[in-house]
Amino acid sequence: MCGIVGYVGHRNSTEILLDGLRRLEYRGYDSAGLAVLGGRGVTIVRAQGKLKALEEKLKQHWPQGPLGIGHTRWATHGRPSETNAHPHQAGPIVLVHNGIIENYQELRHFLAKKGHTIKSETDTEIVCHLIQQRLYDGLSMEQAFHHVLGELRGSYALVVMNTNEPGRLYVARQGSPLVIGVGKGESFAASDVSAFLPYTRQAIFLEDNDWGMLSASQAVFYDRKGNRVKRPLKKIVWNQTQAEKGGFKHFMLKEICEQPRILMDTLANRTVEKQKRVFLEGVAKVLKGKFPYNKIYIIACGTSYHAGLVGKYLIEEMARLPVMVDQASEFRYRRPIIDRRTLLIAISQSGETADTLAALKEAKSQGAKIISICNVIDASIPRASHATLYTRAGPEIGVASTKAFTTQVAVLILLALHLGRGQGKISSGFVDEAISALLRVPSQMEWILKRSKSIEAMAKKYAKRSSFLYFGRGVNFPIALEGALKLKEISYIHAEGYSAGEMKHGPIALIDKGMPVVVLAPQDKTYEKVLSNIAEVKARGASVIAVGTEGDRELARHVDDLLLIPPAPWYVTPLLESIPMQLLAYHMAICRGTDVDQPRNLAKSVTVE
Ligand code: F6R
Repeated sequence: MCGIVGYVGHRNSTEILLDGLRRLEYRGYDSAGLAVLGGRGVTIVRAQGKLKALEEKLKQHWPQGPLGIGHTRWATHGRPSETNAHPHQAGPIVLVHNGIIENYQELRHFLAKKGHTIKSETDTEIVCHLIQQRLYDGLSMEQAFHHVLGELRGSYALVVMNTNEPGRLYVARQGSPLVIGVGKGESFAASDVSAFLPYTRQAIFLEDNDWGMLSASQAVFYDRKGNRVKRPLKKIVWNQTQAEKGGFKHFMLKEICEQPRILMDTLANRTVEKQKRVFLEGVAKVLKGKFPYNKIYIIACGTSYHAGLVGKYLIEEMARLPVMVDQASEFRYRRPIIDRRTLLIAISQSGETADTLAALKEAKSQGAKIISICNVIDASIPRASHATLYTRAGPEIGVASTKAFTTQVAVLILLALHLGRGQGKISSGFVDEAISALLRVPSQMEWILKRSKSIEAMAKKYAKRSSFLYFGRGVNFPIALEGALKLKEISYIHAEGYSAGEMKHGPIALIDKGMPVVVLAPQDKTYEKVLSNIAEVKARGASVIAVGTEGDRELARHVDDLLLIPPAPWYVTPLLESIPMQLLAYHMAICRGTDVDQPRNLAKSVTVE
């Protein structure tokens, strides 16, 4: 996730771009840059690090010109560096991009054959060269842009300048947000409206596959086929903070709701339908050939630890390899048996968690091979690992982790499929089905999100309760732990997660009349057993809130409240169940008036022991 902004009008664009980038910095902050076209041609200034570094550089030379584009980066392809920072340029084409170009390797080869020299490691730079190539081929700028959009696979929001066309910006959107601001004698393009709210409240929200041109006085849009389209002009009534949150009340809610799109990014160029395999570029070397390890440790903290627990079920079932999952803070202070045949998987959103980093380093010093699953590119944990699989969730601002968790689980599913295939324990047909199931998840998540009103109502009903139990079996057990953690973190309600089978060994003593018990009950191999567990707690007076499969009438008869997920294979259900768990915690917190995005006593990244 990056922030992009473009301006064409009557003012000097440097001030406007910088101001916009400041408001977009929450979308990414590992490097930033801008390009301004004025009387003396184009000036491009880029810097690694936060926006402040770019501002420092600009003090030495403040570009002048009424046309410009800017970018604040969240690295996906290529580490954070000045060379990889946007804008990128090829001849007269200068552009900024947010998203992931899935077929960039293929396009890179094509461009290399045509004699283009690509300077950065990014997927973005190839788009400049492609447009330049189509201009060489004799197309007009408009034709070249349209043609290139047809060659790109993946997600993008693009804002492009041609230095031979002062006064014009080219824009396109597919899967990543792009909004146009319509001012008096000036136009803006940005990842969200917050970037231009001080200048105009008139906005046009582009739809997927839209592309077009902006000048100071006009905005023209086309669809994929090149037919002219009109998009409504909307008046923005949000204030600045709401705008950064995309109109959502909290970052947490925004992050919950963006999971369908984010998951597509996580899966992009790792799953190709009908290819019967997954592509895990980051770990290919470590996992190449015969699997040389005799055990796998997964270490992590908090929510990432719960993702690790899901990983254990996945890898053991699909690859038949032994997996031990440890909280990093425990792992580092015992004497785990580690040698050169140990594979250690460290999971961390931030990549900076002190316990996870220390445990990883300890295991590495004893000869373990380290793979990390991380969200922040080039953070300490990936740097200390032999290989990393990035989750590509974009910056997570809400302290309670949501999209980072589901993307970690998605990556673990891919890893389990890869290992399972490598071990010869699952067929290519199974992998094929799993890929199709994974690619259905974003739309299934949308389906759940559309029904979230009922969760709001349910939260009101239970918000005054002081204690909750969460039960799940098999791969759903870690989701019970995670659901309980979400609830306590943001609503401060006491909640415990248990494996449903463990209930009779103690926790059942807690149940009395009206005690809310959340039960994960999808129709998998543990379903019958979970139904019995529900009967047992109901018999003791519990109010059961179940998460079950759409169309499950039997379950509906036995529970007080039912949250539905669409039918899916067992290994995919954790991704779907997570959404009602997150929404339930969120709405409970709202009912209790707590600080959802910054709950008391917590920090987003725990960099001390
Ligand atoms: C809970 C949460 C924390 C983190 C934990 C590890 O919502 O966010 O429990 O999961 O502090 O952080 P990372 O994943 O950054 O290592």
